[in-house]
Amino acid sequence: MSVGIDEISFYTSNYFLDLRTLAEVQQIESEKYYQGIGQEKMSMAAPDEDVVTMAANAAHPLIERVGADSVSTLMFATETGVDQSKAAGVYVHRLLGLNANCRVVELKQACYSATAAIQMACALVARQPEKKVLVIASDIARYDLDTSGEATQGCGAVAMLISANPRLIEIDPEVGNYTEDVMDFWRPNYRSTALVDGKYSTKIYLKSLKKTWENFVEVSALAFHDFSHFCYHLPFSRMAEKAHKHLAKINKAGLTLEQVEQQVEDTLHYNRIIGNSYTASMYIGLTSLLENCKQNLAGKKVGFFSYGSGCVAEFFSGTVVAGYEKCLHTLNHKSMLDARQEVSYDEYLQLYRYPDPKDGEHHDIPAGTTGRFRLAAISGHKREYVIC
Ligand code: HMG
Repeated sequence: MSVGIDEISFYTSNYFLDLRTLAEVQQIESEKYYQGIGQEKMSMAAPDEDVVTMAANAAHPLIERVGADSVSTLMFATETGVDQSKAAGVYVHRLLGLNANCRVVELKQACYSATAAIQMACALVARQPEKKVLVIASDIARYDLDTSGEATQGCGAVAMLISANPRLIEIDPEVGNYTEDVMDFWRPNYRSTALVDGKYSTKIYLKSLKKTWENFVEVSALAFHDFSHFCYHLPFSRMAEKAHKHLAKINKAGLTLEQVEQQVEDTLHYNRIIGNSYTASMYIGLTSLLENCKQNLAGKKVGFFSYGSGCVAEFFSGTVVAGYEKCLHTLNHKSMLDARQEVSYDEYLQLYRYPDPKDGEHHDIPAGTTGRFRLAAISGHKREYVIC
């Protein structure tokens, strides 16, 4: 019996800032963003959107198909939690109408935790193959204004159904892991924006890739040449391109530069125009690969490098299942991205600075999202979510 990803769907906000606009305000060349970091646009969440509403929007198409009662566990991966105690997934459980017997838990380790959720979900399904686990990764990437990280902001959520005999990706049990206590990127509880040692973080990312790969080849029979494509954690697109060149070099792959680039380029289309979505980003990258690769991927091996600052990283592998192309939500995704609205720099600042009430009074939140679920109010310190 195989276990893995049966279906995948993602959501991002309907607002974006073009990085040319940011470059103009900063009086720098836009090519630094378009070429240098490989990013064109960044999604900005509306005031009535958060990780809960984005998660529910991402998962809704999957639940419509399989039915709310078929999900036995919901695992919610995020580093933009809305509460220190209550799992964000419990709100999503209600919004999606999941069964009261479905367990819900939230997982955190920077951008890595969706991968931990998937591995735990695979273990649950291997034990009880009739069960389906819903894994949702949802995040809003926020840095301070006028910092090096600002252009790598973004937001998004991805929902994946983990099942036996999956229709998209069979996940292999062998993994390579690497953990090291480092301060490359972090967000103390009292801050709404992340702190980052940018250049150092890229070095630790590459070091973790080498370490996880070394651990992976110790336990797996697979070698570099067995893979046709690679999905990387995507803080910005150029990071994945650099990382993959690094991996090809470590393995003395003997491929041309073009061949190396082709192994990642279809994973980048959505990230370039959404930005970093932390826990969701690698899996939005996987969706980009499945929905945009012209080649039939059936039977192909895909390598995954998941990285979460701090840091925990994992390399694992999967096989694309024959017929996968019939189970995708390509049209939904493309029409959602095409319908997004560009914001000016001033509108971006308004979205960025929208206050997060802390006084316990009743605050209605203005409607901004075009999604199905929204945060309508915060009242008495309680978040009130509604279905539109
Ligand atoms: P920076 O230091 O401002 O940029 O920000 P730079 O000066 O290094 O320039 C970037 C690239 O653009 C360089 O290319 C320049 O040469 C090029 P490279 O040398 O790297 O190949 N460039 C140009 N290219 C064409 N035309 C031009 C031009 N000008 C310059 N005119 C930095 C870079 C990564 C520091 C910044 O984006 C940052 O702080 N980002 C946030 C941290 C981050 O994303 N780190 C990635 C690894 S950590 C991670 O992935 C985890 C994370 O997702 C969080 C989590 O786990 O939760 C962040």
